[in-house]
Amino acid sequence: MNSRYCKLGAILLLASVAGAQAADPVTPNMVPTICGVCHGPDGVNDSPAIPNIAGQPADYLRYALLAYASKEWRSVIVETILTHYSLSDIDVMVEFYATRPYVGIKQEVDPSKVEVGKKIHYQLCDNCHMEGGLAPDEYEPILAGQWMPYMRHAIELYRTGQRPQVPMMATKIAKLSDEGVEALVHYYGSFAFKREPDGKITTE
Ligand code: HEC
Ligand code: HEC
Repeated sequence: MNSRYCKLGAILLLASVAGAQAADPVTPNMVPTICGVCHGPDGVNDSPAIPNIAGQPADYLRYALLAYASKEWRSVIVETILTHYSLSDIDVMVEFYATRPYVGIKQEVDPSKVEVGKKIHYQLCDNCHMEGGLAPDEYEPILAGQWMPYMRHAIELYRTGQRPQVPMMATKIAKLSDEGVEALVHYYGSFAFKREPDGKITTE
């Protein structure tokens, strides 16, 4: 696991050098005000272009935030907000969201695309995004139940090289056709469930 993530380590190091200084340290009760306007008070929101972040693994959330802060991941919105916060503030935000339940949102999907997407997922993605994309790992986010427009966008960022990715994921993403991406997006969009931080899953 560790060797395949040396790229992530490099980004973390870079971001720790670039870390900003905050005026007042962030406390957990400030997080919904700072981030909740877009991500929802508990990290689950109703705008399909904005990712739900509650219940994603802490290491992944920290990695993503430091990647934005160091401009390895580009999002003008997120990177601008993060210039106001220090690394310890980011840790408070990470802890806040990682300890909340993940909510997978059931969306309108085409059942035939879901079937194709499921096959592709198990062929190419499941060894890291495990249990059909419902289980997180240290650095691997949950994909199932994420907003479909965001997923389409995120996969496109990797496909076009706008987001760096671990080499083993790059070889799989490179195999996807446009139709394959769309099928995966429908597959991930077909799940409605809640996953508690202790791993307990309930479905609707
Ligand atoms: C103005 C709206 C807005 C605000 C405020 C905002 N975000 Fe975001 N956030 C977004 C959008 C849009 C994206 C997707 C960006 C992209 O294209 O990569 C995103 C992406 C993320 C991601 C990556 C999620 C994933 O699934 O990879 C994390 C983590 C995140 N934001 C955390 C935060 C935190 C913590 C705060 C508070 C400091 C915050 N955001 C404030 C809009 C916002
Ligand atoms: C070798 C392990 C590995 C494989 C295989 C893999 N991924 Fe990933 N994936 C990761 C890791 C690690 C991250 C988080 C860090 C990053 O962005 O590199 C990630 C992140 C993602 C994200 C970002 C989610 C978000 O919320 O922004 C998407 C989307 C994604 N992967 C889709 C896929 C798809 C689709 C496949 C199969 C075609 C796949 N991955 C195969 C390891 C993998």
